[in-house]
Order: sequence, then C-alpha cells, then structure tokens
Amino acid sequence: MNSTTIENISKYEGQEVILKGWLYNKRSSGKIHFLQLRDGSGFIQGVVVKAEVSEDVFENCKKLTQESSLTVKGLVQKDDRAPSGYEILVKEVTPVHIAEEGYPISLKEHGTDFLMENRHLWMRTPKQNAILRIRDEINLAIRQFFHDRGFVLIEPPIITPSACEGTTELFEIDYFGENAYLSQTGQLYAEAAAMAFGNVYSFGPTFRAEKSKTRKHLNEFWMIEPEMAYVDFEGNLKVQEEMVEYIIGRVLENRKIELKILQRDTTVLEKIKAPFPRITYTDAVKLLQDGGFEFQWGEDFGAPHETYIAEKYDKPVFITHFPTKMKAFYMQPDPNNPEVILGADLIAPEGYGEIIGGSERIHDLELLLKKIEEENLPREIYEWYIDLRRYGSVPHSGFGLGLERTVSWICGVDHIRQTIPFARTLNRVYP
Ligand code: 4AD
Ligand code: MG
Repeated sequence: MNSTTIENISKYEGQEVILKGWLYNKRSSGKIHFLQLRDGSGFIQGVVVKAEVSEDVFENCKKLTQESSLTVKGLVQKDDRAPSGYEILVKEVTPVHIAEEGYPISLKEHGTDFLMENRHLWMRTPKQNAILRIRDEINLAIRQFFHDRGFVLIEPPIITPSACEGTTELFEIDYFGENAYLSQTGQLYAEAAAMAFGNVYSFGPTFRAEKSKTRKHLNEFWMIEPEMAYVDFEGNLKVQEEMVEYIIGRVLENRKIELKILQRDTTVLEKIKAPFPRITYTDAVKLLQDGGFEFQWGEDFGAPHETYIAEKYDKPVFITHFPTKMKAFYMQPDPNNPEVILGADLIAPEGYGEIIGGSERIHDLELLLKKIEEENLPREIYEWYIDLRRYGSVPHSGFGLGLERTVSWICGVDHIRQTIPFARTLNRVYP
C-alpha cells in the first residue's frame, strides 16, 4: 500500500493509497460523509459512502471534529472540479487525535487581528498555506539562481557593532555591557566576502525598528543580498532583472495550484521578462509633477508616488540615479554628476512598491572616508570596512531583495504580514 501526499496524488490515479493528515472540514448526510482533508502538501476531498465501508468506519467519521488528525485509506479518482484534480473514495479512516471542540478558526469569516493572534492555526488554512508554499518556492529559486551562477552563500552576523544602513531604526541589544544592534542589512559583510570570493550572496533575517504601520513594512524581514566584485551599475541591474524573471518563472511552473487557490491573475506575471524599463529619479519627478503631484527634486517617494510611476509600465521598473543625499553613505556617486548615485530601486507593478534597492559601491578610499566623516559615522567601528578599500579595492556592486515584498507581489496579497510565518510588526510579537 502506497503512503503518499496530496501533492503527489496524480501518480496514483485508480490505485489505493494512504494519506496522513488532518480534517479541515466535514459535511455529512445520513449516507455519505464528505471529508475535506489536508496533509500540508494540499487539500483533497475524501468521500465516505455508507454502503461501501464497514459500520465502524462510518460511525467513526461522525466523531471527527474540525482539525482532528487522521489517516485515510482510499481509492484515488479523477475529479476535474477539485483544485488538486482528484478525490479519494475512502475505505478506511483511523483517527489519530480527536481535536477538542471549539477550534478557534471556525470556517466563517474572521477579522485579521483575530487571525494574526491565532497565526499558529491560521497557517493551516488554504490561502495562508498557499502563500507560504510559494514563499518556499521563491526561497529555493533564489538559492538555485545564485548557486547556478557560481555565487557563494555567505552568512553575515545578525549581531552587529554598528549601523549598516542608517543610524535610526536600530534595535539595540545589551552585548555583555556593550551596545550592539540587530542587523539591518548584511551588505557590508557581503562586500568583505565579495573581495574574498568574487560573487557572493547573503540570505538572512534583517531588523528595522521602523514605527511604520503600512502594508509593506515588517520589523523583521528576510533579505537576499548579492555582492559582486568587478561588476558595475549596468551589470548590477542585469543580474536583478534576470533573477526576478527566473523567480517568477519558477513559481508559475511549480506552484500552479497555489496560485489558483489565491486566485492570482497569472497573465500579469507571465509578462515579467527581462529587460525591465528604467527611468531616472529626475525624470520620475517630472512625471509626478506632470501628473499633478506636488513633489520636489530631493524628496523621497511615498507609496502613492511609487504606484503612480509603476502604473506606467506592465513590468517592474528601475528608478535610477537617486539624489546622493537621499541614499546610504556607501553608494557610488555618478562621476558625470556626483549629485546622483549609480544605483536603482526596482518598483514592482500593481502597487506593490519597492522590492529591490541596490547600487555600485564606493571603492575609492578617500571618497569613502569623506562620506563617513560627512555622515558623522564612528570611523573606528568601520575600520574593517575601510580596509576593503586599502587592500585590492575594485569596483563592485550589489543589491537587496526583500523576500516578503516579493512574496506579496507574486501572490497578489494585500498585506505583507501574511507572507512570513510569524510576522513581527509594530503592534505584534505574539505568537
Ligand atoms: O533598500 P534597502 O534598505 O537596502 C538595503 O538594505 C541595502 N543594504 C541592500 C543592498 O544593497 N545589499 O532594503 C532592501 C529591500 C527593499 O527594497 C525592500 O524590498 C526590503 O528590503 N525592505 C523591507 N521589507 C519589509 N519590511 C521592511 N521594513 C523593509 N525595509 C526594506
Ligand atoms: Mg530602499
């Protein structure tokens, strides 16, 4: 007898299998039980017909409460209406644990606060499950993309002695009597590794003590940060667009059922092919002004601005050459116009906002020292980073892709808190 998962059920059409899972929902009449089963890999309907099973089996099904765990033996049959394409004609049911009555996530509508409070259970429902499975696919796609291109995965520390991205927004911790911080970005460490390995990427959690309550901000999120020696501004954008195209392709290929559960319009995703359009910051400002926005050169874009710009395109768009003053100290100013940097943000379509920030890095020692001084950064803490410009410095570039923003966009979900297993937001550190 084959024990299988719902995900792989198609291989067993016309055969008997064993499924190990949970009861998501149940409908019964006197002669038939419809068991909505889930096993983590998918959802499927099990049909228990009184006339075709022993009395024990039929009676046992009556005792099954929502979320009881059970194993089921039955025949796999095609069913074109089902998301999985199949159903199970059940022969045997073995309860493993009868769940207590009063399961919190009953099958009616609930408010999001209640669902977040019960995130440990909410994860079991089809949409949340689909989102996190797509997240897993994206995770794997990213690792594969970089691995295939010879990048080395380097894990930067999570506890850091200094601000890496900006001096506000830091979570401070007591490190044996000294101040230390939870990392905002692994970038500076990735730069060190790029000088040792050429092409590297880091992939880890990052922390920002931002008091934002938007649909796009988490206080703990995951970032992919490639860093590449001998790669300039142009080369940097090329890797980004190829990576995004690859990720989308993988999800479209391998997560069809999940995209269907989420009712995602995949035609918009199918259009996401490199190269991506570009607009300079300066031209984007003009676009906004022509569109009636009160917006001055030097200001940072808010969500409505990003959305307005993104709506002009049906692919993600690079906004390039931001004002130097707006961006982090390490970004390389454009030699032709030092007022702007050789960097870009990638803005996703459909109002999902910035998913990537990246740039060429300053590789000249004198210029870096000047920037550190201008920004009043404590130089002694950055000595190791400055060393990279003392010993075999080369032009190099990198970027950071926010994993959860990418998942939000690809899944088409309206709030970033649904895209990470246990979200950390301004008002929530539980569960
Ligand atoms: O633009 P950011 O701040 O760039 C960096 O941290 C660079 N050091 C990256 C690099 O060049 N290695 O952040 C990069 C991305 C953003 O584009 C966004 O997708 C995501 O990280 N991000 C957030 N995601 C969720 N919640 C937040 N609070 C985020 N802040 C940034
Ligand atoms: Mg940014």
